Amino acid sequence: MGRKKMILDLDTGIDDALAIAYALASTEIDLIGIVGSYGNLQMLAGVQNSLNLLNLLGESNIPVYLGEKHSITTQSFDTLEISQEIHGMNGLGDIKIPKSSRPYASESGIDFIIDSAHEFQSDLIIVPTGPLTNLSLAIKKDPKIETLIGKVVLMGGALTIPGNVTAVAEANINQDPEAANEVFQSKLPITMVGLDVTLKTLLTKKETELWREIDSPSSRAFADIVDYYINAYANLKTNLDGCALHDPLAVAVAIDASLVTTLPINMKVDTEAPFSGRTIGDETRLNSNQATTVVAVAVETERFLSTFMTRLSTLFSKN
Ligand code: RIB
Ligand code: CA
Repeated sequence: MGRKKMILDLDTGIDDALAIAYALASTEIDLIGIVGSYGNLQMLAGVQNSLNLLNLLGESNIPVYLGEKHSITTQSFDTLEISQEIHGMNGLGDIKIPKSSRPYASESGIDFIIDSAHEFQSDLIIVPTGPLTNLSLAIKKDPKIETLIGKVVLMGGALTIPGNVTAVAEANINQDPEAANEVFQSKLPITMVGLDVTLKTLLTKKETELWREIDSPSSRAFADIVDYYINAYANLKTNLDGCALHDPLAVAVAIDASLVTTLPINMKVDTEAPFSGRTIGDETRLNSNQATTVVAVAVETERFLSTFMTRLSTLFSKN
């Protein structure tokens, strides 16, 4: 059996950068491409961050594609102030890393998702860690891919706890609730890795100090970038002892589903006030035989953190 193929769909801020590193450090999968999204920053700036990060991590072949610049119900996108506080103005904690000279791919990210679904079918894993706009447009353009794609493991939503941008909404879902609802209502086999579990996987300066000791260009850059993120969490007074590893946890679960305990639930996203952006069970599909989504509600925190540190430290020591 060949290795599974992974596509990351990112709004490349700080935890998205950690998701790229985790995917590159994982020999179980082939990262075949990155699609850009808006969210933590503008889509084009995120695409440039992805190219720069791949370059920093010694990877010069994985293509990066343009995705949508805004939600399916809007004509433009303005980065939220809270995103800039958490990820910095450049999405990477205002730390400068060398600019990649590689251009982004000419094919659109949405066509890349569709073509990859036809080519790799059940071997394809899609990991969106930003808004679900690109994936919703891909299934609208070619609904057949819903039953071709092996699995979608997304970072987004909150089932058992409140949201992080409103009382009920998590940031990625909140950027485009309509798109997210279309994805959850589709036939796609989804694992939802939401705040229920990602807020239980925290990194502290104890770990970034270990990266500093590696003393390579990538370890120093990632230590600086993640320290900005840890400071931002402290300033926000989140009551968390460290920063949340939202996006790398989704990649880790895509590779090893046994890291989380899940509940099978057909989900929906509310699109109207006062609950816009809420991820919750779809009452109209309560009695259908099979749930298309499983929601992660518990995580093996220690096992994930030690795997995360081993993988990233190994990657950083080579670059
Ligand atoms: O709510 C956390 C999510 O929002 C993460 O994916 C983060 O990168 C932002 O996109
Ligand atoms: Ca993200």
